[in-house]
Order: sequence, then structure tokens, then C-alpha cells
Amino acid sequence: MRGVVLAGGKATRLRPLTKVTNKHLLPIYDRPLIYYPLQAMARAGVQDVLLITNPEHAGHFIQLLGSGREFGLKLAYELQEEAGGLAQAVSLAESFVGSERMLVLLGDNIFTHDLRPAVERFSSQASGAVIFGVEMEHPEQYGVIEMDGERVVGIEEKPTAPKSKLIQTGIYMYDTAVWSQLRGISPSARGELEITDLNNIYVDAGTMRCETLEGYWIDAGTSHDELLAANVAVAELRRAGRI
Ligand code: DAU
Repeated sequence: MRGVVLAGGKATRLRPLTKVTNKHLLPIYDRPLIYYPLQAMARAGVQDVLLITNPEHAGHFIQLLGSGREFGLKLAYELQEEAGGLAQAVSLAESFVGSERMLVLLGDNIFTHDLRPAVERFSSQASGAVIFGVEMEHPEQYGVIEMDGERVVGIEEKPTAPKSKLIQTGIYMYDTAVWSQLRGISPSARGELEITDLNNIYVDAGTMRCETLEGYWIDAGTSHDELLAANVAVAELRRAGRI
């Protein structure tokens, strides 16, 4: 299994904090945001990790993270020239991942769940993909998952009328079919290749599984309030040694 962490994008929702720097370099309590998904990757036992970011800030990530040794990781870097969407960023990982399977983490997600058992389960699964769901009070700002029992029926990106409170977090696992699936998706109305469109290909094929994410989870990048909430919650979690 190889790891991919997405740390590009324009982060317009966090301006002016992100006018001259990258969202994932902003502090969350005592360390930059990007540390948390990298720690989660190491904890999951996935050591070869590709960090994808935008050219303007790539040098800062290399200065900060270097080889990744501090995390017990072997880090490689890739540039996303334009913020063309999450699926477009993932497609840049093809030569790095090669014939292995892939764990993708969004660089602005912070969580306490240990992914190692899920990674082991996925490694012995025949084929397909996995998303990780949590229930949120305001699901409309995320990709909303519709389930029928254990089966994923569909995922809608930021719907105005959400069909459930269950949302997909920024944690995804894909088999090797992902590269051909990625070539089959087209830009959305906002001009981006959406991870939700990629995930729905697996849903339609009946090969998408949804696991429940336990513990604390936050997407720190959605607003200034979420960024603040992440700082407050993570301070507590770090003092308790839980993250
Ligand atoms: O956090 C979970 C949510 O993440 C999911 O529920 C949504 O389905 C999914 O689309 C995504 O929504 P966001 O609105 O949070 O996506 P955002 O634009 O914030 O980008 C997520 C991460 O990916 C962020 O760390 C920046 C990075 N990114 C984003 C874009 C658009 C890239 O590396 N390249 C890109 O082109």
C-alpha cells in the first residue's frame, strides 16, 4: 500500500490567512496542520508517501518535512500546477503508486481513528474502494453518503437537500482500477475533477464500502470557525496524548 496526501488547492475560504501561505502550513495547536495526516499515515503503517502540493508552496513543505524521517515516513513530492480538483490531484500519483493500492488522505483532515486495521482489511479485499463516514449536524458542506443497510447507494457533493447526515471524510482507499476510472471522469460545474465522481463509479459498480470512522474527526479547512475549533479540540487531545 502506498500513501498520497493532498496539500494543494487555493484555500479561498480561509483568506486572508492563506493569501501568502498554504492552508496546510497553518498552526493547529503546537504544529502545522499537515503534521496530523502525516502522523495518521505513519500510524496506519503506510510508509511510502507522496505529498502533492502547489508550486508556490512546494519549497516550504520540503523545508518543513524533508525526507519525512521525523515521521517514520519516506516522503516524495509532486506538483499540482493548477487546483483542478481532488481527483485531478490524485491522478498525479499514478507513477508513484504503480501497481500497488493507495490510501489517500486530504491534508486538512485531523482524526484520532487508527487506520491500520482498515488498511489490513483492504489489503486482503479482492477489489474496490473504501470511504470512511461520520455523522455531521451540517452535512451539506461535505460529500453526503446515502446507504441502504450496509450498501453505499450514492454520494452527493455538497447537496442543498442532504439525504442523510452521514458524510465522507477525506480518507479514501482505492484498488489499482482507480487509474482507468480517473480517466473516465469529466470536470464538474465548478470546473474541477471531483473525488465524489470517482467514488460514485465504484458505488455504481457495487464495489464501494463505507467504514465508520470512530473518535474525533474534523475538516479544519472549511472555515475560520472550523480552524479555531480544530485548534481548541486538538490542544485537548494532545494534552491527553490521544493524537
Ligand atoms: O473533508 C471531507 C470533504 O473533503 C468531503 O466530504 C468532500 O466530499 C470532498 O470534496 C472534500 O471537500 P472540501 O470542500 O473540504 O475540499 P477542499 O477543496 O477543501 O480540498 C480538500 C483538500 O484537498 C485540501 O486539503 C486541499 C486539497 N486540494 C484541493 C483541491 C481543490 C488539492 O490538493 N488540490 C485541489 O485541486
